[in-house]
Amino acid sequence: MGLVIALLLSFLFRLSSAQSSKTIGINYGTLGNNLPSPYQSIELIKSMKAGRVKLYDANPEILKLLSGTNLQVSIMVPNNEISNIASNQTIADQWVQNNVLAYYPNTMIRFVLVGNEVFSYNTDHDRRIWFDLVPAMRKIKRSLKNQNITNIKIGTPLAMDIMQSTFPPSSGNFRSDLIDTVMVPLLKFLNGTKSFFFIDVYTYFPWSSNPTSISLDHALLRGNDNYTDPLTSLVYTNLLDQMLDSLFVAMSKLGFPKIKLYISETGWPSSGDIEELGANINNAATYNRNLIRKLTSTPAIGTPARPGIFIPTFIFALYNENQKIGPGTERNWGLLSFDGSPVYDIDLTGKRALSDYPPLPAADNNSPYRGEVWCVVRRGVDLMELGSALAYACGDVNGTCEALVPGRECYEPVSVTWHASYAFSSYWARFRSSGATCYFNGLAEETTRNPKCEGGWSHAYTPSKVEEVDR
Ligand SMILES: *[C@@H]1O[C@H](CO)[C@@H](O)[C@H](O)[C@H]1NC(C)=O
Ligand SMILES: *[C@@H]1O[C@H](CO)[C@@H](O)[C@H](O)[C@H]1NC(C)=O
Ligand SMILES: *[C@@H]1O[C@H](CO)[C@@H](O)[C@H](O)[C@H]1NC(C)=O
Ligand SMILES: *[C@@H]1O[C@H](CO)[C@@H](O)[C@H](O)[C@H]1NC(C)=O
Ligand SMILES: *[C@@H]1O[C@H](CO)[C@@H](O)[C@H](O)[C@H]1NC(C)=O
Repeated sequence: MGLVIALLLSFLFRLSSAQSSKTIGINYGTLGNNLPSPYQSIELIKSMKAGRVKLYDANPEILKLLSGTNLQVSIMVPNNEISNIASNQTIADQWVQNNVLAYYPNTMIRFVLVGNEVFSYNTDHDRRIWFDLVPAMRKIKRSLKNQNITNIKIGTPLAMDIMQSTFPPSSGNFRSDLIDTVMVPLLKFLNGTKSFFFIDVYTYFPWSSNPTSISLDHALLRGNDNYTDPLTSLVYTNLLDQMLDSLFVAMSKLGFPKIKLYISETGWPSSGDIEELGANINNAATYNRNLIRKLTSTPAIGTPARPGIFIPTFIFALYNENQKIGPGTERNWGLLSFDGSPVYDIDLTGKRALSDYPPLPAADNNSPYRGEVWCVVRRGVDLMELGSALAYACGDVNGTCEALVPGRECYEPVSVTWHASYAFSSYWARFRSSGATCYFNGLAEETTRNPKCEGGWSHAYTPSKVEEVDR
């Protein structure tokens, strides 16, 4: 009898610990000037029942507050400290002393991620950091080993732009400029230390840049649209599995089929700029709910090429972060709004059935917007801040602001707001194709209403014609 109970208890214990290891993690990014305090943020993370939290640095206040919680913690070495650490074991030891030992073990630090998307940066200076990455990881590993710490793994999150080919998944290959020089040493390190390959993987990007050949349902993990890889005959029910398996194939080709994947970022934006496709609450909630349901399934689902393997994941992100630069989607990845209120309902434990959620607002931008778009001064901004943005937008020698000169067609009305709106639109329409966004330090916003000047002139951006989304 006692034995039966002991066996049962141990079985239940294993079941519950297996389940708790399947908790969802969350990326706690802090690029906002209006976010809840670290204390409130950690309370929110706990109330959402996240099991793990990933930071983009080793913020002392946050790490102190995480002490004594059940949250497993991932901290990060900033890109600009990598070369220093790679150069000198003493510096690595000091980094570990200040950022790990100061909080560990009461703060359950489990990962030190060295750098963030290091191979996505490509100047001469950045490429020097590529080569310092693995040496820095080795030195941090040695520092931890010297402290007899064995339950902290070292990794480095990379973006999908490390891939030369992802489609079909069986053609997966790393970029040729990375393979011999930096990828093989990295894979050797990860394999040898039984760490994970951390990957930031978003189905949103391939879908939104190619909505005619990829169906939205496939990108949203709806599971009703299959793709069969012609080489392997493996059936893919969603785009995420395809992307992960292409990475698995690329690693296998280099002789490292055993390294496990860890999704360091994934998610879907709930809002964005007018011309950004499919960034809405309906899609964001659908993606993240389907993702969580898949990841928390027991037994683990894995991917077609690696069935049955649990893929630990950090969702991006906790908050909408208003100081992230780039297109509007960048500031709208949060599960929570800037004030801590949910953008949509989400159960991170995966227990809530999809049918138990209230109806979502209709998706209104799943097809491309075809009209003109202008970039104007955001309502309610501080006029004092506009001067330097105006100077920036007009500083170009190519005459972005020629029409604003006294006597020219857009000089009137003479107001800083009007002139800045003109300058923003003019600059953005001209440089959008080379990456300019309608942001201007948070001072600008898009509009579909033509802000015409007296002379009738306007600069608009017209989204290039994309064929109707094929679904
Ligand atoms: C490593 O860094 C430490 C601390 O900054 C310094 O004292 C030491 O001279 C450095 N060693 C080398 C070989 O540069
Ligand atoms: C690590 O363990 C070894 C062997 O048990 C011991 O000699 C050493 O003092 C330990 N180091 C630390 C920093 O605890
Ligand atoms: C990967 O690590 C395993 C041990 O975990 C080892 O047997 C294997 O040889 C390693 N693979 C490579 C290519 O280094
Ligand atoms: C897609 O493939 C899965 C797994 O092979 C299968 O269960 C499902 O019925 C297929 N769905 C469609 C719509 O073909
Ligand atoms: C001005 O325009 C020319 C031709 O379009 C371009 O090559 C040049 O880079 C532009 N100058 C600036 C400062 O953007």
